[in-house]
Amino acid sequence: MQNPQNILITGASSGIGRALAIAYSKPDVNLFICARNKQNLLQTKTICENLKANVFIKILDVCDQLASKNWIDEIEQNFALDLIIANAGISAGTAQGSESFMQVKEIFDTNIYGVINIIHPAIEKMIIRKKGQIAIISSLAGFRGLPSSPAYSASKSAVRVYAEGLRGNMSKFGIAVNAICPGYIKSNMTAQNNFYMPLLMEVEDACKIIIKELAKNKSRIAFPFGLYFVVWLATLISTKITDPIFAKLPSKKALTKNN
Ligand SMILES: NC(=O)c1ccc[n+]([C@@H]2O[C@H](COP(=O)([O-])OP(=O)(O)OC[C@H]3O[C@@H](n4cnc5c(N)ncnc54)[C@H](OP(=O)(O)O)[C@@H]3O)[C@@H](O)[C@H]2O)c1
Repeated sequence: MQNPQNILITGASSGIGRALAIAYSKPDVNLFICARNKQNLLQTKTICENLKANVFIKILDVCDQLASKNWIDEIEQNFALDLIIANAGISAGTAQGSESFMQVKEIFDTNIYGVINIIHPAIEKMIIRKKGQIAIISSLAGFRGLPSSPAYSASKSAVRVYAEGLRGNMSKFGIAVNAICPGYIKSNMTAQNNFYMPLLMEVEDACKIIIKELAKNKSRIAFPFGLYFVVWLATLISTKITDPIFAKLPSKKALTKNN
């Protein structure tokens, strides 16, 4: 969609979500942003307001289905959401050995149901007015199960495949759906990785690509191209060859309160 006016972004207290909120900020844009950390979310609000956007914040855990639905319903009483970017997410891996049940559950709850909890109440409204765009942040980590972060890669695969199916299903209602699959982007999430991250990008550069491709309604927004190509190639090669290679990749840390 070109020039969306009413934009909702989850996980806008830092990283990609904050940078997207800033990049979309201009006069006449209404931004609806959420996260759990009030202080950080207020910082995003101030930056966006200085750029003349109207900013409405919500302290929200996207794992809370009812609170997420209530927030969408509340917004839709006065505004018709044009664009929703389901961005909130957490990551963790197997650096300490294996993943705990709680880690897997928390990652699936946030990265899968945290997306569904937000987009579904909005889709109901968009279907009625036959207009809207839903962008879901997946990852290049979601093209192949990673021994370094099995739950994270599975969660990102789930939302990418869901977005692809939803796109075909929603087109008859005039609703665009896009899967965004970034490689390594500088943010709090990658700051925890104490290993080499190939083609690591600045968050502002990533947001420029995302915004440009969303305006063109590109189905899958996967970047940087070099890393996407390697990941895509890996899905074509026999697992007899790729399994030992992926097993050697460095792992992310296990979940902590700060993930
Ligand atoms: N950075 C990368 O290299 C990269 C690559 C591919 C995909 N991604 C994806 O991009 C998205 C943004 O990540 P990022 O890199 O910008 O990391 P980040 O700086 O850690 O941002 C994550 C955001 O999600 C919010 N969040 C997490 N859990 C939440 C919850 N339960 N309810 C509401 N908000 C929640 C966080 O806010 P609070 O803690 O304040 O709630 C924060 O605003 C994630 O989905 C991530 O998987 C990142």
